[in-house]
Amino acid sequence: MATDARPKVFVTRRVPARGIDLLKDKFVVSQWDREDRIPPEELLRGVKGVDALFCLLTDKIDKDVLDEAGPQLKTICTMSVGYEHIDISECKKRNIPVGFTPDVLTNATAELTMSLLLATSRRLKEAMTAVEDGSWGTWNPIWMLGHGLDGATVGIVGLGRIGLAVAKCLLSFGVSRIVYSGNSQSKNAQEVNAEFVSFDYLLEHSDFILGCCSLTANNMGLFNAEAFNKMKTSAIFVNTSRGGLVNQDDLYNALKSGKIAGAGLDVTNPEPLPTDSPLLTLSNCLVLPHIGSATEKARSAMSELTARNIIAYCHTDDDTCVKQL
Ligand code: DGY
Repeated sequence: MATDARPKVFVTRRVPARGIDLLKDKFVVSQWDREDRIPPEELLRGVKGVDALFCLLTDKIDKDVLDEAGPQLKTICTMSVGYEHIDISECKKRNIPVGFTPDVLTNATAELTMSLLLATSRRLKEAMTAVEDGSWGTWNPIWMLGHGLDGATVGIVGLGRIGLAVAKCLLSFGVSRIVYSGNSQSKNAQEVNAEFVSFDYLLEHSDFILGCCSLTANNMGLFNAEAFNKMKTSAIFVNTSRGGLVNQDDLYNALKSGKIAGAGLDVTNPEPLPTDSPLLTLSNCLVLPHIGSATEKARSAMSELTARNIIAYCHTDDDTCVKQL
């Protein structure tokens, strides 16, 4: 019986069809074709002998996975812009290129960041609860007041692709000032008139503080008690980056004690956030289940770009677009 000479790819989850359709032509595709996270032992089984791995941010791709895959592994491509789940230095050592999916989810994630910002600043969680539990009395001039974006100072930690897209949205809401902090100045800051400031300055002067940077070993727990203590008591904190940026106990204390006014989180640590998390008891904390890029368009484009990255790495004759780290 003739063997199939096409390279092999393993896909670690059920993903939008676009990517799989592209791969099927050129690869022997095997897949954890389910909506739940692949168990570690199934991941080890699946990667054995493949040429390419199509993975997600929920998969820990470490030395063990690379060893189990074997030396023929040509690429690891994640259907995400974040890649902290992949042992990049181990991949570099082995000359395995890592693909990711920047750009195609920028607008969706910026949109969700704005949704959280607007929802928390205008206290939508409390307002909806008031409707549902009957504590909505009558229209009241001094009830349920929030802080609008008009005239506000917004601090963006990480003015990368997503931070910049959020800044562009903010301008149309009439914010008076955008400040940002990060490892280095952004070449795009001028487009949105954003000022590069120290992290401390940003904390002290911003009405809204947005976590838009990627998670690294250096900024784990960046938003801790010390940071929350520097914020205004009217400050709203929004995080759509990674939960690891935040010390959640410290955030809880800051919100509970009124040290800051509110928080909107699309990302937590761990995920899913346990339903008994104290954060969920707070009316001034809105938590979403990591849906920043969850639009049909963005997820389909992420699936397609991941497949195109794989094709480009495995078929040198095919110069489809490559988004490599
Ligand atoms: C990513 O891609 O890293 C986001 O967190 C999910 O789309």
